[in-house]
Amino acid sequence: MKKNFKNYYSAALITGAAGFMGIQHALALLELNLYLVLVDKDFGKLKKTKSRILKTFPNANILIFKCDICNEKTIVSIKKKLDKLKIFVKVLVNNAAIDPKMNSIGKGKSGSVEDYNIKNFRKEIDVNLIGAFICIKVFGKDMAKRNQGSIINIASDAGLVAPDQAIYHPQENIKKLKHFKPASYSISKHGLIGMTRYIATYWGHKKVRCNALAFGAVKKNQSKFLIKNITKRVPLGRLAKETEYRKSILFLASEDSSYMTGQVLVLDGGRTTW
Ligand SMILES: NC(=O)c1ccc[n+]([C@@H]2O[C@H](COP(=O)([O-])OP(=O)(O)OC[C@H]3O[C@@H](n4cnc5c(N)ncnc54)[C@H](O)[C@@H]3O)[C@@H](O)[C@H]2O)c1
Repeated sequence: MKKNFKNYYSAALITGAAGFMGIQHALALLELNLYLVLVDKDFGKLKKTKSRILKTFPNANILIFKCDICNEKTIVSIKKKLDKLKIFVKVLVNNAAIDPKMNSIGKGKSGSVEDYNIKNFRKEIDVNLIGAFICIKVFGKDMAKRNQGSIINIASDAGLVAPDQAIYHPQENIKKLKHFKPASYSISKHGLIGMTRYIATYWGHKKVRCNALAFGAVKKNQSKFLIKNITKRVPLGRLAKETEYRKSILFLASEDSSYMTGQVLVLDGGRTTW
């Protein structure tokens, strides 16, 4: 790999890289011939992610770090380690998030506003918003100094519209609903889009771009009724495949989007158009 900026290697740092979608972003960004810096609080899963990537791309340059993105000191120490290795984070993907689990068919209640546990709410906002801001603060500052960089905030269709709670009931009977999509997720993703606009205008003159990517639901192991209910609300009539966002990550990270900042790229099968 060539050093190309004042003797520094360029890198893409992905937070929450050990999760379901993290590896997809990593595989996309390999196309830009960047170092990959993968961070997550789950180091075991992170090691597995690295091995999975190396199996297909044995020459990929990958560094992994265990970290809690809410801990500014840890993020600063990762930055210092990268500095020593002459690695510059040119692309930051704020992907880590807590999507609070809800029990969509079990007994009891979950996610209701009336009973929401405020301690959980604070933790969820801490990771989804403040953690992303800390990474922007630490790595974006360096991008601004070097007058280049792209920040990609992973939002969601739930950052553009409120969740339609009816999908979480088999017969879509909102009156019988016991399990709700928790407030913190949608609220934090709306906030992340606000942060995207703020940072885009704050550092535009420094040639640091900041955009959000709003995904729709990806097919994984959702219940049959949930898939059916979501599908009805998506004009393209299906959930996304996990590989379907790769090109959009690549687009936002690369010079192909050189005149784009402060925007939300929406890939949701059309769900938020009606
Ligand atoms: N999967 C989907 O259907 C979908 C849809 C729309 C948007 N998104 C968004 O895409 C992103 C990735 O989703 P995913 O499905 O891969 O989620 P995931 O839960 O599989 O992965 C999230 C990762 O973040 C890590 N993480 C959580 N808190 C952390 C912290 N404090 N510090 C460091 N790492 C932390 C977790 O360990 C996990 O590996 C999220 O921002 C999510 O909101 C996902």
